[in-house]
Amino acid sequence: MCGIVGAVAQRNVSNILITGLKRLEYRGYDSAGVALINDQGLQRVRRQGKVAGLEQAVRETDASGFTGIAHTRWATHGRPSEKNAHPHLSGEELALVHNGIIENFQELREELESEGYQFASDTDTEVVVHLVHRAMAETADLFRALQSVVKRLRGAYALGVIHAREPHRLVAVRSGSPLVVGLGIDENYVASDQLALLPVTNRFVFLGEGDMVDVTLEGVRIFDADGNEVNREVHELDGAHEDAEKGEYRHYMQKEIFEQPAAIQRTLEDRIDSPQSVSDAFGERATAIFDQVRTVQIVACGTSYHAGMVARYWLEALAGIPCQVEVASEFRYRQHVVPEGTLFVTISQSGETADTLAALRDTDSSNYVGRLAICNVDGSSLVRESELVFLTKAGPEIGVASTKAFTTQLTALLMLVMALGRRKGMEDEKIESILNELRQLPNLIEQAASLDKPIEQLSRAFVEKHHTLFLGRGVQFPVAMEGALKLKEISYIHAEAYPAGELKHGPLALVDKDMPVVAVAPNDELLEKLKSNLQEVRARGGELYLFADKNAHVKEGEGIHVLNLPAVPEIIAPIVYTVPLQLLSYHVAVLRGTDVDQPRNLAKSVTVE
Ligand code: AGP
Repeated sequence: MCGIVGAVAQRNVSNILITGLKRLEYRGYDSAGVALINDQGLQRVRRQGKVAGLEQAVRETDASGFTGIAHTRWATHGRPSEKNAHPHLSGEELALVHNGIIENFQELREELESEGYQFASDTDTEVVVHLVHRAMAETADLFRALQSVVKRLRGAYALGVIHAREPHRLVAVRSGSPLVVGLGIDENYVASDQLALLPVTNRFVFLGEGDMVDVTLEGVRIFDADGNEVNREVHELDGAHEDAEKGEYRHYMQKEIFEQPAAIQRTLEDRIDSPQSVSDAFGERATAIFDQVRTVQIVACGTSYHAGMVARYWLEALAGIPCQVEVASEFRYRQHVVPEGTLFVTISQSGETADTLAALRDTDSSNYVGRLAICNVDGSSLVRESELVFLTKAGPEIGVASTKAFTTQLTALLMLVMALGRRKGMEDEKIESILNELRQLPNLIEQAASLDKPIEQLSRAFVEKHHTLFLGRGVQFPVAMEGALKLKEISYIHAEAYPAGELKHGPLALVDKDMPVVAVAPNDELLEKLKSNLQEVRARGGELYLFADKNAHVKEGEGIHVLNLPAVPEIIAPIVYTVPLQLLSYHVAVLRGTDVDQPRNLAKSVTVE
């Protein structure tokens, strides 16, 4: 989703801004732009398409400045085009960038038009820049102008504004959309994500909801939503830089698939020494809160939702704790009954997903025994607004398709199952045996990833297909769902997942030689039932592609292609079986020539509703 970078310095900041935008490309966008202030005034360059095109245009126009704002736009209001790209201007001195949606833009636009303001774009954002322009006529102070304008805005926004009359100042605000401040030496920055600024600083301030920041060469001043000056903690980040580079890999997604053993290892480190350390990993208040838990409500979107679905099978089967899982965009708009003793759990890679965040914010905390965030980004809104936090340690995930975030979420959720189970009488012996399985996990993931070459071979069969069915049973059903999501989002092949037992209730009608069917077949108690379901597919001429436990005795044959996985303990099998499905979609997408890391129409961090 839209990305913002801004800088105030004594040197030309155009490179800082363009590099920052490149590092935000993973968020998804369709156009990009930059506005720079130098001694001659304000200059703006915008282009539809990739940041590389903008970079070239900046070079060709010789645009430079010591203060600037830059933006990648993911269209919401108004189609992707140069005229709708940010920054938007009002007059020749004022420029603004925006991430989010201004819900009341229509009424504001009518008001401004009636006063003679002319609009150059179809965006909701343009009203804001004109409102600031109007306010500047009254206060002649950029900070105060923006402060008065945000009172008129409804919706979600992170905004950055510069004005040629105050050339060494950048004013920014966040409400509902992410924004961080970067602290440099005699120069300071803002960005939607700290990744954008890692080449210039490792010192960050995560703004709170409603915070407004006045950025100058001398420093930054932060004011809360009530206008009181506040001190926010400065975070020093280490080691995240290299993780955000592609290195020897062709795509970030590929790199992130192969990073999974290390990411899981990091997520487990120091947290699984004993049954007690598992609970401790959820924070100081965890034990007191977990003692009261009788049921769990999980809320998340996309891949994170699939992680929640797996957790439901685990929680009910291993810990005997009832669990509901719902996609956040539905949960937040539905009246629901909250059983006594419910723990509210959100799962998110980014911690900024608008629907998940809104669901958390809508919860009446008195109805829940506590709210836990399982999240990959420290300092994100979800993390800051939850009582309990478990940070997965996947490292920066740049590919839009979530891979290592998912498997580390599953790892975290299995730990949650043990932590809650222990309070409900799960024996330490049982916990120790799951811990032993978890200790083997990085190695098993590595073995699964070593099937890369044969999976690449297999993927050729999918390149010309238009549809694919994914099947799984039990806890492997959400794994099949995740496999289908991966294939559709990066290869644009229509893919659906079904619990294999549902086949004959409808989807079997679709099966013919043109519909490949992918199934995950670990050696579990449902294996024999799954095998019968697969016969139903073969009997209709469907081609089967099976990822099966080497001890499951699933035989290759006409129309049956089998890739054997190592023998995997049943509980952790969903984590291991995810990997071949990720590799399958990756290779199909590469062969189809799609944009693997930034698939069309999608954004990494969905910060608008
Ligand atoms: C999955 O590959 C997608 N990128 C998407 O479904 C994603 O999982 C979803 O948007 C939720 O994001 P979050 O984990 O950052 O909240």
